[in-house]
Amino acid sequence: MRVGVFDSGVGGLSVVKSLLEHKLFEEIIYFGDTARVPYGVKDQNTIIRYSLEALEFFKNFEIDLLITACNTVSAYALDEMREQSHCDVIGVVDPGVLALKNAIPNIDANILILGTKATVKSGAYEKGLHELGYNNLSAIATSLLVPIVEEGLYEGEVLQSTLNHYFAHLEKTPDAIILGCTHFPLVATAIDNYFDGKSSLIHSGEAIVEYLESHYDFTKRFEETSLKFFASENPEGLRRVAKEWLNLA
Ligand code: DGL
Repeated sequence: MRVGVFDSGVGGLSVVKSLLEHKLFEEIIYFGDTARVPYGVKDQNTIIRYSLEALEFFKNFEIDLLITACNTVSAYALDEMREQSHCDVIGVVDPGVLALKNAIPNIDANILILGTKATVKSGAYEKGLHELGYNNLSAIATSLLVPIVEEGLYEGEVLQSTLNHYFAHLEKTPDAIILGCTHFPLVATAIDNYFDGKSSLIHSGEAIVEYLESHYDFTKRFEETSLKFFASENPEGLRRVAKEWLNLA
């Protein structure tokens, strides 16, 4: 199986990390639209247009599946991409909703959704969760966490005061938190500590793996995966982050 992974920038590498850990693919072709990131502050038409342009890029490769690791793209552009794609296109929202259901079956659970401004505005996670009967939902656009992760500030004062800024007003500790943005798994430990380990964290990468394993036949696992990284700007920068996040030699 060859897979394409699309993200607005470097963040989707958090999903690649999970794909590699589970040895699901023989080849991963990653494209990050680093010239135009962030998508999370753009409007629906722009997000769809950029996503369809990325789809054109992937048409240069023979891929069996395309994963949009970007939550913002998954929230807005999946239908349009599917209409124009020659292979299956999977987003991270539905897998995230299913992973939440598997982790926390209690529909009265207090669920907090974190995402970019656009993802939160779309209400995509809420829609999926409402359909399954969950009603105790809230969402916060924790946009500052995106540049904080890109600066490599996975711990420390700046991160702590940002978490305080977003979470101090919460009256209750959430039972579960959906990390609805590619960057947030990189600060999952800090978020987990903030809530004293009392919230279950739903990570897009793990959710995608769970989804793929239950929807496709992965009888074969690949000890070696060939990785190809492309970016619309500064591909060396993307490769540098990939080396760091994925512990590549
Ligand atoms: N990849 C985006 C997401 O998961 C975060 C960065 C951006 O705003 O483009 O929503």
